[in-house]
Amino acid sequence: MTKPLRHVFVCTQQRPPNHPRGSCASAGAPPILQAFWAEQQKRQAYEKIAITYSGCLGPCDGGPNVLVYPDNVLYRGVGLADVAEIFDKHLEGGEVVERLRADAAVW
Ligand code: FES
Repeated sequence: MTKPLRHVFVCTQQRPPNHPRGSCASAGAPPILQAFWAEQQKRQAYEKIAITYSGCLGPCDGGPNVLVYPDNVLYRGVGLADVAEIFDKHLEGGEVVERLRADAAVW
């Protein structure tokens, strides 16, 4: 396996209904994870971009949350329409998508 250029963690944590912290799964994370994998496949980006689902990343209230390493960038409220942009600009282009980036107080 080649060491990836960037590693994306998509929180798919699920919690019981009405749990006070909510969860990224209840905010729609599973289709977001599928969209990241589909984009990776479409671009044949397996060698440079790794996509992994994760448990809770911490700031649950703004999910779906997506963390990108080694850049240490947390995206919040990621929607399906944002996935291709994150790939284009950040994962392949190296430019953070600022409008989705978590505030410094959060991450
Ligand atoms: S449930 Fe996704 S960050 Fe906590």
